Amino acid sequence: MKILAIAGSSRKNSNTDNFLDLFLENFNLKNEDITYLTLKDLDYSYCISCYGCAKVPRCILKDDLTDIYPIIEESDMIIFSTPIYFNSVSSISKSFIDRMQVYWSRKFLLKLPPIKEKFGICLINGGAKYTEEQFLGSELVFDHFLKVTSCKNHLTLKVSNTDENPINSENEDFIRFLNSINLDFNARKSYVLKEKNYGNK
Ligand SMILES: Cc1cc2nc3c(=O)[nH]c(=O)nc-3n(C[C@H](O)[C@H](O)[C@H](O)COP(=O)(O)O)c2cc1C
Repeated sequence: MKILAIAGSSRKNSNTDNFLDLFLENFNLKNEDITYLTLKDLDYSYCISCYGCAKVPRCILKDDLTDIYPIIEESDMIIFSTPIYFNSVSSISKSFIDRMQVYWSRKFLLKLPPIKEKFGICLINGGAKYTEEQFLGSELVFDHFLKVTSCKNHLTLKVSNTDENPINSENEDFIRFLNSINLDFNARKSYVLKEKNYGNK
């Protein structure tokens, strides 16, 4: 199985990186054919809205994402891990996602067949204690991302309160949460780890 694993934190040794790593480990995916993308280490532009992709089915910008498009198209699974920034995905994640406009144009403007169907996994972590709104912005962004990248079925895992209880292998609540997840490739599911009784309430 070809997996594209994307980490969208702006810093090193992040909750986002650990979430991705522990997810892959927990579901025994590390021996698959994985391409890792650490977005902060890549040099790519935000979408400049040139609509070059309305004329040809590719992005005309030339940067580190140029070689990534074929990997996206060939992958069987995309795993996208990001922190929450201002109720949405991080800015580098959003810039990457905006570059997926090429697949929107492909479908709706060029009327070409969609790219290969895949399974999508969204791993989202927020530093604040859980609130009903906390993940809404990021979920809307991912909803559109999953559609344009042909992820018909998907799994979304949301973890709050990382500022008090960081994601790592020592975090027992997090590991218990991962263990409770059923990875069902034929479904669309979403789970959240709300704050427990750590820290001040
Ligand atoms: C610019 C910025 C905006 C943030 N906005 C939110 C937010 O709206 N909600 C939230 O729960 N946490 C917010 N946080 C906290 C991060 O989501 C949290 O620290 C996260 O675990 C960082 O992930 P990382 O360790 O992978 O970088 C924000 C952090 C930054 C730097």
